[in-house]
Amino acid sequence: SKAAAIIVAAGSGSRTGGDVPKQFRTVRGKPMLRHSVEEFLQHPAFGPIIVVVAPAHAELTAQLLEGVEGITFVQGGAERKDSVNNAIQYLDNLSFNGMTFIHDAARPFLSSAVLDRLLDALASSDGAVPALPVVDSLSRANTNSILSEAVERAGLFRIQTPQAFHHQVISKAHATWNSEKVPTDDARMAMAAGYKVVFVEGDENLAKFTFADDFGREMGQAAKMHD
Ligand code: CTP
Ligand code: MG
Repeated sequence: SKAAAIIVAAGSGSRTGGDVPKQFRTVRGKPMLRHSVEEFLQHPAFGPIIVVVAPAHAELTAQLLEGVEGITFVQGGAERKDSVNNAIQYLDNLSFNGMTFIHDAARPFLSSAVLDRLLDALASSDGAVPALPVVDSLSRANTNSILSEAVERAGLFRIQTPQAFHHQVISKAHATWNSEKVPTDDARMAMAAGYKVVFVEGDENLAKFTFADDFGREMGQAAKMHD
């Protein structure tokens, strides 16, 4: 069967600010959310595409994705994990049994190469995530931002999305997850439930838009390309 894509777009983008949450703003010529929706739609391995949005932005989302066929909308929840869980339950209700990819709308520049690496890795693992090695020096700081002990960088990775799983794996991981207060992602939930999640090579282009500056940087790059 074809793989499912869950694209979570129900956040409020509080760190970025602005009139509408970041995932609805335009980057590289189209609404941020539309970039990853189209990438999944173009890839032959993907079937159900589920976009998770807050009720308050349902109408705006429908407008921004006008003309895009083959997507299903699911209502978001209070936290990211709740938004993901609503989409997992939607797939559970369809008795979906394929692979499920979970992606942040806030990471618009998804490539088919990353999707292929994740699909390949799932042939021999419960889950797979794109990861990149940390390259900067790392340090703890005390409460006044004063440099304190160094943190060994070797063996540390930055984890991106999409995070890919066999559907039963992520469904079971979400159903059994109970330490509500610990911020976590889907891969960590799967790991905590006893599943094996592997790294594949990530992609710098998959960086998440988090702060207003991330939009400024993007505009700067676009300007450079036209020089
Ligand atoms: N997300 C979601 N539902 C939530 C919270 C987050 O679907 N209740 C989604 C966001 O829309 C985003 C992704 O999860 O695509 C990653 O979250 P983050 O970058 O933290 O986005 P926001 O939560 O919207 O931003 P902030 O934390 O600054 O408010
Ligand atoms: Mg958030």
